[in-house]
Amino acid sequence: MEILHYPVLHREVLESLMIDPEKEARLIDCTTGEGGHTQLFLDKYPKLNVTGLDRDKEIQKKAIERFKDYNGRFTPVNTWFDDYLREADPESADAILFDLGISIFHYEESERGFSFRKEEKLDMRLNPDQHLSAEVIVNEYPQEELADVIYRFGEERYSRRIARAIDEARQQKRIEFSGELAEIIFHSVPREYRYGRIHPATRTFQALRIEVNKELDRIKPALESAIKVLKKGGRIGVITFHSLEDRIVKWYFKEEAAKENPQIKILTKKPIVPTDEECRENAPSRSSKLRVVEKLV
Ligand SMILES: C[S@@+](CC[C@H](N)C(=O)[O-])C[C@H]1O[C@@H](n2cnc3c(N)ncnc32)[C@H](O)[C@@H]1O
Repeated sequence: MEILHYPVLHREVLESLMIDPEKEARLIDCTTGEGGHTQLFLDKYPKLNVTGLDRDKEIQKKAIERFKDYNGRFTPVNTWFDDYLREADPESADAILFDLGISIFHYEESERGFSFRKEEKLDMRLNPDQHLSAEVIVNEYPQEELADVIYRFGEERYSRRIARAIDEARQQKRIEFSGELAEIIFHSVPREYRYGRIHPATRTFQALRIEVNKELDRIKPALESAIKVLKKGGRIGVITFHSLEDRIVKWYFKEEAAKENPQIKILTKKPIVPTDEECRENAPSRSSKLRVVEKLV
């Protein structure tokens, strides 16, 4: 059975982006993935067109197939969202959506070593043309730098011990597989941490993925450009999955909204979070937060 990514906070996203059903409108879905959110919008608003961005060609193929009968209302673009928005026409979109991070597809089907539960080549690239992969980071970053990545992007308190263990292991042979790395991490941390709430490799794997794809560096420039690309009265919705992402979004919107002649108004003083029911039905949604702003001028 194919495992589909379940669109997180779908009701809340649909409500808060406020598309006018009577008018032709354009949504930029910056993180289309398999197209869960895009489909909800296309089905609800027959006059809506969606520009669907994704850097990952493999997952994008699924979205293209999914929307082939939508009469050209879905336009895929294979790009990083910050690159696309930087060049996009000002005031050309009615709504812009970000659903940050990666999809279940990446863990379950991509075979790129995103999951520490699988034995796959360590890769984690969304863009296969770039040189930097998880394998390169793990085997070639100096130990100190590796520890910093694991600490900053994984908020991993045992980052130094983990980096030291990786360094010892790679002196014997290159670390090539996800399961192999998970094993090294498992044995490098204190016993009580090995059997804690989450697998001890969770944070390190998150950190590697963020470093490979420069995920956090892309958020603020993309939001800056998104405001420019939005029409007056249009809305931006951002779904984050961990505090590192959410902090960037929250502070950027706060700073912008506090300017003397602000271009945006914050519509979510507190972020929208999933209901208990959604958390029960879709475990990965548990940590999600939605922040929404409206363009004023
Ligand atoms: C959480 S998934 C989106 C799921 C989608 N909203 C759905 O409901 O099916 C995020 C997607 O965005 C892509 N992605 C992540 N960061 C990106 C970036 N900076 N630029 C372009 N695509 C990105 C990933 O490849 C992934 O497919």
